Amino acid sequence: MSAQPTPLTRPRISARIGAIAESATLAVDAKAKALKAAGRPVIGFGAGEPDFPTPGYIVDAAIAACREIKWHRYTPVGGLPELKEAIATKTLRDSGFAVSPGQVLVTNGGKQALYNAFATLLDPGDEALLPAPFWTTYPESIQLAGGVPVILMTDETTGYRVSIEQLEAAYTPRTKLLVFVSPSNPTGAVYSPAEVEAIGRWALERGIWVVTDEIYEHLVYGEARFASMPTLVPELANQCIVINGVAKTYSMTGWRVGWMIGPADVVKAATNLQSHATSNVANVSQIAALAAVSGDLAAVATMREAFDRRRHAITSILSGIDGITCPLPEGAFYVYPSVKGVLGRTIRGRVATSSAELAAIILDEAEVAVVPGEAFGTPGYLRLSYALSDNDLHEGATRIARLLGESG
Ligand SMILES: Cc1ncc(COP(=O)(O)O)c(C=O)c1O
Repeated sequence: MSAQPTPLTRPRISARIGAIAESATLAVDAKAKALKAAGRPVIGFGAGEPDFPTPGYIVDAAIAACREIKWHRYTPVGGLPELKEAIATKTLRDSGFAVSPGQVLVTNGGKQALYNAFATLLDPGDEALLPAPFWTTYPESIQLAGGVPVILMTDETTGYRVSIEQLEAAYTPRTKLLVFVSPSNPTGAVYSPAEVEAIGRWALERGIWVVTDEIYEHLVYGEARFASMPTLVPELANQCIVINGVAKTYSMTGWRVGWMIGPADVVKAATNLQSHATSNVANVSQIAALAAVSGDLAAVATMREAFDRRRHAITSILSGIDGITCPLPEGAFYVYPSVKGVLGRTIRGRVATSSAELAAIILDEAEVAVVPGEAFGTPGYLRLSYALSDNDLHEGATRIARLLGESG
């Protein structure tokens, strides 16, 4: 009898899921936290989360919600109607983009909003233009949806910003969408309003969708200004999805509330998907998010001030290290220095052959956790989040400077 394939002789993990890499940023963070728990004095620049507690009035709203029986029940898949309304109001207030509550889908963080958006827009083989360095989740989420990420390289010489010429060169008849993020994770780059508008007009002319991630909208510094693409190019609204959430603005990473905004038919289709995946976001978290987006922006102004101070502090320490080029970021809370000048050197008997190897050496020898550029599609760089206390920031950056100072 010929051996028929059985479920046990076939691969245990599906090809689709087997191809997904672990989130490198969460992996670095988990390793740093494990070392810390084991008593090591590790300083973590890995996680992309503010170090501040969630503001008290938001926490109080959640505590009150816990006691209300109606929030112990299932609620509409797409989000509490009062939260969708408040998100529409907030979007007009903060971005000047007028949308109806029916264009909003409340999700388990910005991550699920992205997953929903890609799954709803992409058919197998559709191409998604993705400027690099990119946030590590984008390509995985695109591929999970059957899409093909088309990477457009940028570097520090252009402020990590993609040009229309690059977009035009990468465009093919299979191009379905462009992923756009400003301020950017991992680089902190912020596109000027004129650049945002030019890219929006290009997408409009080419008839492609833009998935624009506005999660760092309130974290811009100095002369930089946040600009929302569908506000600058209103005709784009019918082929644009805005991703946002409360995680970064209100220091609410653990509450898991984000949202997508888009044309009503796409939002309805994405809501159908969510109805079979996760249903409604936890009601207590939605009530907390309602308090956040309905309130003022005083708490984020305080956090922004601290981040602004820290971005100067970390840039100045890293820029002083021989072999490192560290542009001053204009937004978010990351620096993305090039470490190409350090590669090939010997550090405490080990050769830093790549940024991944360098990050491992820095963790082992200086007990400082950083994320290598490999995680963002651009080897030769490190990402450091400066959303940690001033003392830790100073101590961690100084340890790196001391360690690399020994290299030769
Ligand atoms: C660019 C970007 N978009 C979206 C998210 C998703 O955030 P969350 O799922 O915590 O809302 C993050 C988090 O790191 C991010 O950096």
